[in-house]
Amino acid sequence: MKKWLFTLFSTEQKAAVKSRLLEINFFLIRLFAHRALLSSLYYFLFSRQFDREHKAVLQGRMLYQGSLSQIGRSSALLRRNIHRLEKGLIMQPRRAVFATDYINETVAVYLKAVQQATLCEAELKWATDVLTEYFTVVQYNAVIAKARAMFSSASKPAAAATSIPYAYQTLPSAAVSFADLSALFLRRRSVRWYQQKAVEPELIRQAVNIATLAPSACNRQPYRFDLLSNPLDAADIARCAMGTTGFADNIPCLIVVVGDLSCYPAERDRHVIYIDASLAAMQLMLALETLGLSTCPINWPDIEQREAILQQKLGLAYHERPVMLMAVGYADPQGGIAFSQKKTDELLVRDVRISSG
Ligand SMILES: Cc1cc2nc3c(=O)[nH]c(=O)nc-3n(C[C@H](O)[C@H](O)[C@H](O)COP(=O)(O)O)c2cc1C
Repeated sequence: MKKWLFTLFSTEQKAAVKSRLLEINFFLIRLFAHRALLSSLYYFLFSRQFDREHKAVLQGRMLYQGSLSQIGRSSALLRRNIHRLEKGLIMQPRRAVFATDYINETVAVYLKAVQQATLCEAELKWATDVLTEYFTVVQYNAVIAKARAMFSSASKPAAAATSIPYAYQTLPSAAVSFADLSALFLRRRSVRWYQQKAVEPELIRQAVNIATLAPSACNRQPYRFDLLSNPLDAADIARCAMGTTGFADNIPCLIVVVGDLSCYPAERDRHVIYIDASLAAMQLMLALETLGLSTCPINWPDIEQREAILQQKLGLAYHERPVMLMAVGYADPQGGIAFSQKKTDELLVRDVRISSG
């Protein structure tokens, strides 16, 4: 209807209508921008742009609740709480009694994981090792004693406790110099023109396994990488984004970085999927670079129709949100690279002093 109406107008008339609508929109924005409640009203009355995010966050929270009883290959609650225990174990000075407020919850979810036997082996081992260490060093009170009794009742894999905190000085040294790192950073550029050469999925998996050493909030790692190594599939999905005009069909392999909102019980953490996934994505691009593969991050726009298309094509659940796409391939040596001037510390660093009185 909207499209049909627009055919009745000349190009100048359409431009004039668009500009008038924009003016009205900015007028409304000025009216509604200064109060949180008015902003919510604006998005209720005049724009549905946040609808998908609201629904996805709520669906994520609902599924989080379900994940407390039905444990899958990974448990967000277990990961978070085991990490909290790790932080308690390395606290300086370590408290004699700690984690009283969440140890029962942690052991309860651990026991479910053991019973249901769905958790991946490394995660189960990490949880077992850290809990064992915790119950070895903590001073007992009634709550901790009860949790300990519950923990002891579980059947655990018998192996050496290797997934526990360790001293900084035992970390392997990194022989990478500042100059080496700058060379790698300079070498990684957004590459949009590739050789028509298949990308080996094993190389991507190899890179993923080091990229995901990236930090993530409470070590939940709420993301995954959907890999399209068939060039036809890669181009099909690349065309769904907005920023691939002219080069989508040239992309031999594509990664869709997907964030999982079911890792969180509360809205306050709804942005963490984007942060954690992006930290890993950056490392992934650098790791791929060292394997001879070039990349280009591709913006994923939060536009309802495009979201629905991607959801359908990739079989994404509603709470699984595309964070970005990433083209991967062997660079065409003759292909152009945008200069893309970078801001430096002069613009990016602000010295802040808080005067104390
Ligand atoms: C989140 C994100 C989204 C991007 N989206 C696109 C895109 O849609 N299309 C594109 O050609 N480049 C895209 N880029 C690449 C940027 O244009 C590029 O990173 C920037 O110009 C700096 O150049 P460099 O990557 O070569 O250093 C994106 C980069 C990021 C980080």
